[in-house]
Amino acid sequence: MLLATDKRVLVAPAMNVRMWTHAATLANMATLVARGVAVVGPNEGAMACNEYGAGRLSDPAAILAAILALVHGPQPLDGRHALVTSGPTHEPIDPVRYIANRSSGRQGHAIAAALAALGARVTLITGPVALADPAGIHTVHIETADEMLAACAAALPADIAVCAAAVADWRVAHAAPLKLKKSPGAPPPTIELAPNPDILATLSAHGPNRPRLVVGFAAETNDVLAHATEKRRRKGCDWIVANDVGAGTTTMGGEDNEVHLVTAESAEHWPRLPKAEVATRLAARIAEALA
Ligand code: CTP
Repeated sequence: MLLATDKRVLVAPAMNVRMWTHAATLANMATLVARGVAVVGPNEGAMACNEYGAGRLSDPAAILAAILALVHGPQPLDGRHALVTSGPTHEPIDPVRYIANRSSGRQGHAIAAALAALGARVTLITGPVALADPAGIHTVHIETADEMLAACAAALPADIAVCAAAVADWRVAHAAPLKLKKSPGAPPPTIELAPNPDILATLSAHGPNRPRLVVGFAAETNDVLAHATEKRRRKGCDWIVANDVGAGTTTMGGEDNEVHLVTAESAEHWPRLPKAEVATRLAARIAEALA
């Protein structure tokens, strides 16, 4: 691939592992690298011909990241892996009904894009939203809190975790396998709830896989700062981005956000800004913290 600069990227084509490791291929690759060509891939894994090894095409996100790095030069989050949760979760009642909330995923998706723009490799784990997957970002789609937790665990290790998802606090204890039906004269069904796992608290727990910086959100309808400060301590995360989602605000599902960034040392108020701008500022702060 010839870029509009004097830089060149070779996206390693999909080939059998023995073709890749052949002396002639290795010598040709060495010549290209010596001439300044950046090589992306190949990835290791199972091959179409039932063999295993290096020879798979890199995923589009890695190819895009390599091209952007060449065009824009080094970025502050190059080489970092960021995990971002976004959107609501859907907790099934029966095969056609579920419990959900008003989260649009706009803030989480914008944060994923802002971190990627600073060079991070981003894994975005999202509940059902009406947004397109951000370009060049590995996006994992889940429905329930349990699935979100499993996807986060599978994506570790990560340097950064930003939990922007509005995870349902409860799921239906016994979701019905068949659609619940009305029967004449019978009372409405009673739905028993069970607590969902806390993904932010799980990621924040000390252990070898704890991301270096864990950022949570706090959606509050009153006493925003007091609740956010308490939530940061209770969940064990490093920072909390706190926002007011009380009646009359349009934060949940809207285009703008007005937040406080609460850390162990301080609480900082940011003016009402488009969610993309909040994301850019937060990504810059994250890059600064990891520098
Ligand atoms: N969160 C999570 N898993 C949950 C619930 C919340 O990871 N089961 C995360 C959210 O992604 C967010 C933070 O925890 O980063 C705070 O979410 P919030 O809804 O404000 O707080 P809750 O934990 O639900 O507490 P409460 O309802 O008591 O305010």
